[in-house]
Amino acid sequence: MSSTLWRGARLATLAGPRGWGLVENGALVVQGDRLLWAGPVADLPAHLDVTAEHELNGALVTPGLVDCHTHLVYGGHRGHEFEQRLQGVSYEEIARSGGGIRSTVAATRAADEDSLYASTLKRAQALMREGVTTVEIKSGYGLSAEHEARCLRVGRRLAETLRLSVRTTCLSAHALPPEFAGKPNEYISAVCAWLPELHAQGLVDAVDVFCEAIAFSPAQTRRVFDAARQLGLPVKLHAEQLSDQDGAALAAEYNALSCDHLEHLSPAGVAAMARAGTVAVLLPGAYYFLRETKLPPVAALRNANVPIAIATDHNPGSSPTLSPLLMLNMACTLFRLTPEEALRGMTVNGARALGLVDRGQLVAGQRADFAIWPHEHPGELSYWLGQQVQPRVVWAGQERVNP
Ligand code: NIG
Ligand code: FE
Repeated sequence: MSSTLWRGARLATLAGPRGWGLVENGALVVQGDRLLWAGPVADLPAHLDVTAEHELNGALVTPGLVDCHTHLVYGGHRGHEFEQRLQGVSYEEIARSGGGIRSTVAATRAADEDSLYASTLKRAQALMREGVTTVEIKSGYGLSAEHEARCLRVGRRLAETLRLSVRTTCLSAHALPPEFAGKPNEYISAVCAWLPELHAQGLVDAVDVFCEAIAFSPAQTRRVFDAARQLGLPVKLHAEQLSDQDGAALAAEYNALSCDHLEHLSPAGVAAMARAGTVAVLLPGAYYFLRETKLPPVAALRNANVPIAIATDHNPGSSPTLSPLLMLNMACTLFRLTPEEALRGMTVNGARALGLVDRGQLVAGQRADFAIWPHEHPGELSYWLGQQVQPRVVWAGQERVNP
């Protein structure tokens, strides 16, 4: 089988558990959608059947970015709540008075599927322009069987039209919809009842819950996780964002792929995640935008060898950003990650948070998803603040035109 050679690159392979895995004057050999070989040009194997060759003139190449936590499908925006919060009203107060997620639910239900698709397409394309090759998309602004299915279908449709890998997550337990006001347990029963149907339609890759005082309790979370387990679906959790609910330990019991946010994570939660191999997804955009002050326990996560991922958490309420690179910068400045930890967080560890082990490093056998940057050093991906850079991107072995 013929292959394509990319040569003359400075590779940040991220091979192995730490370090950039830098290779000067490196080469990648791509066959189909896979990397057949990665290493120094000087060591290129002989007798390769190369039919196309690209000279990169020293450009930096990294694995494609994996944005493992987004709420990309929604109608409207929440600019008015941003102004309220600037005047001192808290995110929780807005949620308790019927705004917040529920105001986006109303706007999402009012939009038809094509306009939801069109607005989500633009957002996905913005992520792609900054080097994203795999994205996770959650439902959670439909909150009925019909509207959740619509949101998840939008995710699937994007995967069919864009040169982008999409993983969908069912987050029906995100907030209580108005028709279930005062009846959270009944709503959870409804979610558990429609999950098999959504799964049967092929719309669900994982199941998530917002476990929080303003959302669902640990007991309610457990019920949704039991329903997911019955279907053989992996789980994730919005855990310990605004308070410590012991959600991470609960999720770890279910071998959760990831626990996300984690500002209020306890030492017991860290230990439980370490035992279960659950990835800690840190979301500096939400921390910044909600002006939080309690930092996630990064040192404890590191010491316990919990893999750390970084994502945009793109959503209209707590993290309206479409810049994965800005999140790398914030992961360093706000959470004190090293630039290398940040990049691992949006490549190999982001993939792990989605249960994907076939991407995130430039090593033979992995998917040929990579980005070619106009930078000298991979640390620059998190160094430049608000950089407007559009890397060349190879997805599934072929160069993709920037949308
Ligand atoms: O990840 N925490 C819950 N969900 C989103 C915010 C949703 C919203 O405010 O619309 C988050 O921060
Ligand atoms: Fe989120």
